[in-house]
Amino acid sequence: NAQSPTVYRAAILHFLSDPDVDGENAYQFFEDGALLIENGRVLQVGEAEAVLASLSSDIPVVEYKNHLIIPGMIDTHIHFPQVEVIASYGEQLLDWLNNYTFPAERQFEDKEYASNIANFFLDELLKNGTTTALVFGTVHKQSVEAFFEASEQRNTRMICGKVMMNRNAPEFLCDTPESSYQDSKELIEAWHNKGRQLYAVTPRFAITSTEEQLQKAGQLMEEYPDVYMQTHISENKDEVAFVQELFPDSKDYLDVYDQFGLLGKRSVFAHGIHLTPREHQRFRETGSSVSFCPTSNLFLGSGLLDIKELEEEQVAYSVATDVGGGTSFSMLQTLNEAYKVTQLNGNKLSALKSLYLATLGNAKTLQLEDKIGSFKEGNEADFAVLDFNSTPLMSLKQSKCKTLAEKLFAMIILGDDRAVRATYVAGNCVHDRDNSSASQTN
Ligand code: GUN
Ligand code: ZN
Repeated sequence: NAQSPTVYRAAILHFLSDPDVDGENAYQFFEDGALLIENGRVLQVGEAEAVLASLSSDIPVVEYKNHLIIPGMIDTHIHFPQVEVIASYGEQLLDWLNNYTFPAERQFEDKEYASNIANFFLDELLKNGTTTALVFGTVHKQSVEAFFEASEQRNTRMICGKVMMNRNAPEFLCDTPESSYQDSKELIEAWHNKGRQLYAVTPRFAITSTEEQLQKAGQLMEEYPDVYMQTHISENKDEVAFVQELFPDSKDYLDVYDQFGLLGKRSVFAHGIHLTPREHQRFRETGSSVSFCPTSNLFLGSGLLDIKELEEEQVAYSVATDVGGGTSFSMLQTLNEAYKVTQLNGNKLSALKSLYLATLGNAKTLQLEDKIGSFKEGNEADFAVLDFNSTPLMSLKQSKCKTLAEKLFAMIILGDDRAVRATYVAGNCVHDRDNSSASQTN
């Protein structure tokens, strides 16, 4: 990644820690800021005047006036094969899976189809300022190959895994404990830590795996202790009841995964709406995290996750879109809905906390805070440029905002892909809203 030094000048915001804990010490905001990038990494961030004074005058400066640069956003739960499932009417989880999702996923048997959708999906994420995601493939090994190939072309840091599922689903989507183990192993060997790609062992959820298959998933986690684990938990009440029927000897839903060694700091459980105190305790003890998917939880009628309760219980959590159960690729729109869910629970979610979650907070739950999520020196130079004048309504509202907190809140509530002026991955522009043909500089 030979790249000569470049300065990006705009307002700049990034986090050092959780603003609910450390207040003003938790972030750096430069009204007229400069971000110095070289060879795909952050060299320096600060006040423009100070940064520019320290550099030779021939360094190119790219200026984004009236824009805000933030670290590339991170989505900790999303399904790339479900792009076309988005906005499917009328069902809650189990019927939604059977009626819409499983038929759509069948098509990923075809590698070429999978490649087309993977490319569409990654461009859509980048268009929304999201530069890293933890992503489900389908049961087909080739779906994940297609995904990693598309991600490698863009040099994005992505985590993906082949779904393991061998029961309670149509025959055409079922693997076996042995084949799921073998396919996952081959994918780990081929892709984990290849460039910026990372692997996640991916049992779909307890309902679609036998004990034999969950045991194989646990075996993979033991053999490759630095890979991720992603699955679903306690999203829907009928789902929770079915799990209790299938695993009558388990203490609760989380205990099913626990028995097979699937908990840990790199284990991400989507939804977690209907968890018990004992399950919270096991999350805390193992450092496992819950992925909060507000647009999906509302769309599928799953429930209102109480993140305040998770904080009180010291359960780590992140924020995610969960497309195609979720209804938007935009993390801004996801934070908008997170705010509303929090309101319904009688609590508040500030704009600073929201943007912390979408960047450094999510990076921390993925154990990636030494690479992405902030502009710490040496971090990978993934960033998004947000536009305070993306629409007439955004402009009008921003002109009335006095404080940074007000401006950021309006950006979250009114913002979507139109608010993302540009997205950079490892220092390269991969999305330019106003000049889309000139964007791919890789
Ligand atoms: N639980 C098991 N599979 C899925 C899925 O694809 N989406 C959601 N939202 N929940 C699930
Ligand atoms: Zn999901």
